[in-house]
Amino acid sequence: MAASPVCFRPHVGLRFSRSASVSNSSRAQFGDRACYGHLVFAPCKGRESSSRNRNSSSVRAIAEPVIRKPAPPTIEESEAAVVAGNPPPAPPVPTKPKAPEGTPVITPLTLTSRPRRNRRSPALRAAFQETLITPANFILPLFVHEGEQNTPIGAMPGCYRLGWRHGLIDEVYKARDVGVNSVVLFPKVPDALKTSSGDEAFNPDGLVPRCIRLLKDKFPDLVIYTDVALDPYSSDGHDGIVREDGVIMNDETVHQLCKQAVAQARAGADVVSPSDMMDGRVGAIRRALDSEGYTDVSIMAYTAKYASAFYGPFREALDSNPRFGDKNTYQMNPANYREALIETRADEAEGADIIMVKPAMPYLDVIRLLRDNSSLPVSAYQVSGEYSMIKAAAAAGMLDEKKAMLESLLSIRRAGADVILTYFAIPAAQALSAERF
Ligand code: PBG
Repeated sequence: MAASPVCFRPHVGLRFSRSASVSNSSRAQFGDRACYGHLVFAPCKGRESSSRNRNSSSVRAIAEPVIRKPAPPTIEESEAAVVAGNPPPAPPVPTKPKAPEGTPVITPLTLTSRPRRNRRSPALRAAFQETLITPANFILPLFVHEGEQNTPIGAMPGCYRLGWRHGLIDEVYKARDVGVNSVVLFPKVPDALKTSSGDEAFNPDGLVPRCIRLLKDKFPDLVIYTDVALDPYSSDGHDGIVREDGVIMNDETVHQLCKQAVAQARAGADVVSPSDMMDGRVGAIRRALDSEGYTDVSIMAYTAKYASAFYGPFREALDSNPRFGDKNTYQMNPANYREALIETRADEAEGADIIMVKPAMPYLDVIRLLRDNSSLPVSAYQVSGEYSMIKAAAAAGMLDEKKAMLESLLSIRRAGADVILTYFAIPAAQALSAERF
């Protein structure tokens, strides 16, 4: 039968996996390797009915003789043709593209290496891309207030003080929808609750603990980071308690920060993040958490936090500007590099789980320094001023917002950051799902 040009045997229980050139009727007939050897067949459940109907009139109708296509050449025949100097036709050798008129005619440089070769097509560039970024690398900072409505933050287009009950939930829902499952909370506290010792920071029913409880209730697997510092709760707008002579009191502040961190952990926070830059606070917070049974709560230390002008829009968002002076006695001098190592060693020794550099883009060298000198995960905070600069330049038509956003985040990753706190988390995650960057 295999030698016959015609096959009468109806197909039963088999399906062509390569059938483009075969008509429906021949498909029904030649479902047999013996009939049409170069086709590959796969078992097909859907065809079982045709076996039951083998003798029905419809099967008889299509079981008429059909002319078989000529068999393709065997491998031996193909090889013989090539050996005989008759290769089968293929597209012509491509012509050399012409250079524009006026291009100088030169002798090519003798180069042993031409790095551009690995950049010459999108596929090659994608293959050799060293740094990748995904929504899992983002932590979204969220501003919350006691109001029911979201109110826009003038200096941060696209950011809002979110109503804690609804707006916050909606925003987290949007973030998770694009793969961002980590948030960090910043409260706008009513002035009437601010004091010089910042005790509202550890009120168990304060805004932040309430938000944590609500979020955990709605999204149990959400990773919630909190900010540990007194500034949103301080009538002086400083991260610590201010003495009469203007000195920020270190150890007394640390005492308050421990109570704040424990209150946040009790509400369900996953990671507490001291951003105050007091000495010894990481170790003290670790001991406080452990002694209250929160051994599983992590600490993300703001390790190298610089006294930066780029926090301006954030302070407007929270109305947390220092009422006097600046933060130069606790935040780091932007001129300093080695000092970041001193902070790194201290935070590591005190039990930090994640170390942070802040701001991010003006301090890429410091991110690289921490990456190369610690085995801990490194986070970087693309702060409010970095965000607003890109938004403002884009609004003025000076930058392509999406490209600048993605490039800034990629650069921060390339410098060595594992995770990035960024107000761009949602639009960046959206853009990343639309294209590979
Ligand atoms: C407060 C705090 C600040 C930021 C995060 N936590 C402001 C500051 O230190 O004055 C800044 C974040 C930003 O600018 O986006 N401890």
